[in-house]
Order: sequence, then C-alpha cells, then structure tokens
Amino acid sequence: MMHFTIAAALAVIPATLATSWDVSVGPNSEFIYYPEYVLAEVGDTVNFIFHPKNHTVTQSSFAAPCVPLPGGVSSGFQPVASDSDPELPNFVITVNDTNPIWVHCEQTGHCGKGMVFAINPPDASSNTSFAAFQALAIELNGTQASALPPVTTVPPQSWAVATATVSDASSTWVSTYTSYVGTPEPTYAAGGPVTHNITVGINGQLSFGPANITAAIGDIVEFTFLAKNHSVVQSSFSEPCTPLADGFNLGFHPVAANTTGPSFSITVNNTTPIWGYCAQTSPVSHCGSGMVFSINAVESGPNNFAAFLALAEATLTTNSSDALSGTASASTPSGTGKPNGALPKINMGNTAAAFALAVVGAALF
Ligand SMILES: *[C@@H]1O[C@H](CO)[C@@H](O)[C@H](O)[C@H]1NC(C)=O
Ligand SMILES: *[C@@H]1O[C@H](CO)[C@@H](O)[C@H](O)[C@H]1NC(C)=O
Ligand SMILES: *[C@@H]1O[C@H](CO)[C@@H](O)[C@H](O)[C@H]1NC(C)=O
Ligand SMILES: *[C@@H]1O[C@H](CO)[C@@H](O)[C@H](O)[C@H]1NC(C)=O
Ligand SMILES: *[C@@H]1O[C@H](CO)[C@@H](O)[C@H](O)[C@H]1NC(C)=O
Ligand SMILES: *[C@@H]1O[C@H](CO)[C@@H](O)[C@H](O)[C@H]1NC(C)=O
Ligand SMILES: *[C@@H]1O[C@H](CO)[C@@H](O)[C@H](O)[C@H]1NC(C)=O
Ligand SMILES: *[C@@H]1O[C@H](CO)[C@@H](O)[C@H](O)[C@H]1NC(C)=O
Ligand SMILES: *[C@@H]1O[C@H](CO)[C@@H](O)[C@H](O)[C@H]1NC(C)=O
Ligand SMILES: *[C@@H]1O[C@H](CO)[C@@H](O)[C@H](O)[C@H]1NC(C)=O
Repeated sequence: MMHFTIAAALAVIPATLATSWDVSVGPNSEFIYYPEYVLAEVGDTVNFIFHPKNHTVTQSSFAAPCVPLPGGVSSGFQPVASDSDPELPNFVITVNDTNPIWVHCEQTGHCGKGMVFAINPPDASSNTSFAAFQALAIELNGTQASALPPVTTVPPQSWAVATATVSDASSTWVSTYTSYVGTPEPTYAAGGPVTHNITVGINGQLSFGPANITAAIGDIVEFTFLAKNHSVVQSSFSEPCTPLADGFNLGFHPVAANTTGPSFSITVNNTTPIWGYCAQTSPVSHCGSGMVFSINAVESGPNNFAAFLALAEATLTTNSSDALSGTASASTPSGTGKPNGALPKINMGNTAAAFALAVVGAALF
C-alpha cells in the first residue's frame, strides 16, 4: 500500500514541479548574462537578477539580436549602484512554449559586445545556436535595424524601350535598351573606357566601396575581394537580395584577413542601372546588412541608391526567416514599376569587336 502511494507521487512530480532558473545580469561588471542560456521546460520561470550598471532583459529575434521584438517581453532599464544594495532588482520570464526565446541588453553598446542570452536555443550544431546568435550580435555591433528608415512602398517607375545612337571618334552604333525615366543617355567615355574599382568588403565591413558608382558604356568595373567570404551577384531594384535571372554572379571568394583576394571584371554594356549584392548569409545576411551596390542608379528618381539600400536592409527585419536564407525580397513595388529584370538588349553596329561584352571572370590574383 505504501509502495503504491510513493510510485504515484513520483509519477506526478515531474509534470507539476516547475523549475525557477536564476540568471545573473552583468555580474562582476561584465557584459554577460550568466549562465548564457538555459534549457527550460514549459511552465519554468527564468529569474534575472540585475547587478551594477544599468542593464535590461529585452526579447529580440535571432535575425536582429539587438533590436527589441515587437510585442516581446522587456524588463526596462534596471539601474543598480552597487552589489551591496540590499535588494538587487529582478525580472521574471515565464516559459510558455519550447520555442527559443532570444534576449539582449538594450543599453547602448552592450548587445554589440555580445551581451545576449537565450532560453531553449537549438544545440551547438545548429546554425541558430546560442553561439551563432551571439556572433551575430557582435557582428552587427548592436546597430542593425535600429536605425533603419521605415520602408513601406517603392514609388512606381515608368519603363520604356529606348534607342540611342552612340559614337566615338572612330565608330557609331545603335543601342536599344529597357530603361526608365531619368536614365542617362548612353555615352561613350571621353578618351575611351576606364576601369572603376569596387572593393568587396571594404575595411572589414559588410559594404562595397564605393557602393554607388556611375560608369559609361564600355567601361570596366573591377570587383576586388577582401577578407571574409563575400560574393557579388546581380539583382534588381525591387528585389535587392534575390539573384536576377541571367544576371552575373561572381561566386563566393573566401579571403584571409589582411590579404587581397581575386579580382573580377564586368563590362558595362549600357547605362541601364545595375543593382547587386553579396549573397553571404552566414552568420548574417550581408545583403540585409546593407552590402549592396549600384552602377548608374538614377539619383534624381525614386529608384536611387539610398532607396535600394533601404529595401535591402528592410529584408532583414520585414522577414527575418527569408533574410537568413538570403532569398529575401521586399514587397514588389506596385504600379507600373517593372523590375530591372529584363536585361537590356544592345544591338551592335559595325564595331561589335570594340567591346568585350562579357563577364570576364578572370581571376587576377
Ligand atoms: C539607464 O539607462 C537608460 C538608457 O540609456 C537611461 O535613460 C537612464 O537614465 C539610465 N538610468 C540611470 C539611473 O542611469
Ligand atoms: C507567458 O504567458 C504569460 C501569460 O500570458 C505572459 O505574461 C508572459 O509574457 C509570457 N511569456 C513570454 C516569454 O512571452
Ligand atoms: C560598435 O558600436 C559602438 C557604439 O555602440 C561604437 O562606439 C563602436 O565604434 C562600434 N564598433 C565598430 C567596429 O563598428
Ligand atoms: C583601379 O585599380 C587599378 C589597379 O588595380 C589601377 O590601375 C586603376 O587606376 C584603378 N582605377 C581607379 C579608377 O581607381
Ligand atoms: C563561403 O560561403 C559560402 C556560402 O555561405 C559557403 O558555401 C562556403 O563554404 C564558404 N567558404 C568558406 C571557405 O568558408
Ligand atoms: C590584421 O590587421 C590588423 C590591423 O593591422 C591587426 O590588428 C590584425 O591582428 C590583423 N589580423 C591578422 C589575422 O593578421
Ligand atoms: C550615389 O551617387 C550619387 C552620384 O555620385 C550621389 O549624388 C548620391 O548621393 C549617392 N547616393 C548615396 C546613397 O551614396
Ligand atoms: C516570411 O517568409 C515566409 C516564408 O517565405 C512566409 O511564410 C511569411 O509569410 C513571410 N512573412 C512576412 C511578414 O512577409
Ligand atoms: C540554417 O540552415 C538551414 C538549412 O541548412 C537554412 O535553411 C537556414 O536558412 C539556415 N539559417 C541560418 C540562420 O543561417
Ligand atoms: C554585357 O553583354 C554581354 C553580352 O550580351 C553579357 O554577357 C554581359 O553579362 C553584359 N554585362 C552586364 C553587366 O550585364
């Protein structure tokens, strides 16, 4: 009889006894939560205890570690003067399901130093592990998405087929191309084609340098890869982080720190704007982080470089799961806008040989 009672009680206990997990926020003046994550059951509580400085416990998303999640939980700022304060403030999160809960400190600079926490993160073999989350917070340095301009709609753009006759000292040819209002007339660079250099990953940042250039027909644009593992892929204005069908793709080129990687050239065939991005998504979408470029963007119109950049960055917040897979697309513009998808057609006259109209793709190590 006694034996039966104990067995029944043991069977019931695991289902009903919730655990309360204590987590120190900023112990020893370090920018950490300790432990850095907990694996909790539904019904458990996580009790955050705030140490000196002025920290928060604020829910975020995996994709934007340092940005408060709309509707997520937050402790607000908890200033603490000294560890000998009689009662350190605390904040409790109740675990309602088994999904990961991502947390950061909102104090300026703290999240970018890696001050993040998780409840039920996937294990270390996952690309959404706690370590990946923390690496992302540090890589984005706390800034990502917080300063993003709101992007709602892209103004419509009128497209047309244009024809132009272009001459230089020795030749004349006719070019037919898809364009939109404001696109400059095709011109041949005075003095012949020039080479424009774009650095892929300038200063170790997720940027092209320069990111926004103007080039004449026949000019060469040479992309030089620096450290990290970047790529250069042509896209369209309305879908900054999605490859353009038939666009160029220079591939991924891992380059060691402080060394210069390969260079690849493309030839500018016409003055229709060329849009592009880096397709790296690990540990974060480089495109969503603003690693995009334009050639011949029409700065006087709505589809200018700044608008393109904003659309790219919006992919990170408007759809974090998409952004992480690198296939994010912002909402397609309404109206008559036609993505830059139809590659311009160029009909060469008698001087076709004057231009090597191809992605050169020659590695110049
Ligand atoms: C705590 O930090 C917040 C945000 O930086 C600030 O507004 C607040 O004044 C700080 N509180 C104290 C007591 O320093
Ligand atoms: C769990 O549910 C409670 C009650 O609805 C809510 O107050 C709490 O914020 C939820 N926890 C999380 C982490 O969302
Ligand atoms: C990271 O952000 C802090 C401000 O939060 C800034 O002072 C620091 O220069 C940034 N570091 C890098 C490498 O951008
Ligand atoms: C581009 O780089 C090459 C060397 O790689 C240099 O000769 C050329 O002047 C550079 N062009 C510009 C516009 O900076
Ligand atoms: C470079 O990045 C690509 C795409 O994420 C990946 O497939 C490749 O393995 C990476 N290369 C190295 C050496 O990290
Ligand atoms: C790259 O250069 C920077 C600055 O000169 C230096 O701090 C860093 O240690 C170097 N990294 C490698 C891997 O050599
Ligand atoms: C892009 O380049 C144009 C022309 O050089 C310049 O006027 C414009 O400010 C640049 N836009 C951005 C966002 O850098
Ligand atoms: C994000 O992308 C997923 C998968 O493509 C889709 O199901 C979801 O509706 C998208 N969410 C938003 C807000 O666009
Ligand atoms: C993680 O990997 C899966 C499948 O390999 C992929 O679909 C997903 O986009 C990746 N997520 C991140 C954050 O890299
Ligand atoms: C220029 O034209 C050639 C031949 O049609 C094409 O292969 C190449 O991709 C074009 N260059 C660009 C930048 O679109």
